[in-house]
Amino acid sequence: MSQAGQCYRAPMTRPIQIIPSILAADYARLGDEVMKADQAGGDRIHLDMIDGHVFKNLSFGPRMFQALRAYTKKPFDVHLMATPAHAWIDALKEAGCDRILLHWDLEEDISNLIRSIRAHAMSVGLVLTPRNEAIDVLPHLDQIDVVNVMTVDPGFGGQIFLHAMMPKIAEVRALIGRRPINLSVDGGVTPETATLAARAGADSFVAGTSIFKSKSKTYHDAIMALRDAASHATKKSPETV
Ligand code: DX5
Ligand code: ZN
Repeated sequence: MSQAGQCYRAPMTRPIQIIPSILAADYARLGDEVMKADQAGGDRIHLDMIDGHVFKNLSFGPRMFQALRAYTKKPFDVHLMATPAHAWIDALKEAGCDRILLHWDLEEDISNLIRSIRAHAMSVGLVLTPRNEAIDVLPHLDQIDVVNVMTVDPGFGGQIFLHAMMPKIAEVRALIGRRPINLSVDGGVTPETATLAARAGADSFVAGTSIFKSKSKTYHDAIMALRDAASHATKKSPETV
């Protein structure tokens, strides 16, 4: 405890990751878009796989990811919004994907899915939608690599960041504690909202519109702006909480 009665939080040492989401890219040139996002400094590539059943949009699938694999060596994170999830694991592994992000509230056994993804030598994350609570991930925290907090309603890019998710980000960070787990935010991420999310404990930032649809910045500058904002926000340690 400090003299003022506040607790000091250890400096955040986990590297910031900026993860371009191709849902906002130019679909007529997806290979080039992935290559440009890589060269511009994206740490991983976020692939929203939406089948129109739970979320009313239709996007990409494993054959597309396999085709895109030739354009970058960066890891592919599949944000799986297609059901049943278990039916896609083999195909996503074969397509060269590296990580699957599962929605916590799937009507399938999450522990079995996590085990199956790991058995396929992929890493795994859990996604909390705005209606899910931080505590929902607790039973799975020792089996996963990342918690992805949705900061918009899932399914579409270009939405406004939900500031009401901020306490949840901080709660997830506290639950993670010293476990080697990343905390990502997904939806409406801009330099301004990345600053807020980073202060709350996020270390990874999924961004579509603010990179691929920026009117004033190159992809490189857009990624740099996100990285600078998030890094700056977490460099004020030791930080009082
Ligand atoms: C939304 C997706 C996001 C989306 C983010 O369901 O999960 O990954 O691409 O897009 P922006 O950055 O445009 O909010
Ligand atoms: Zn996503």
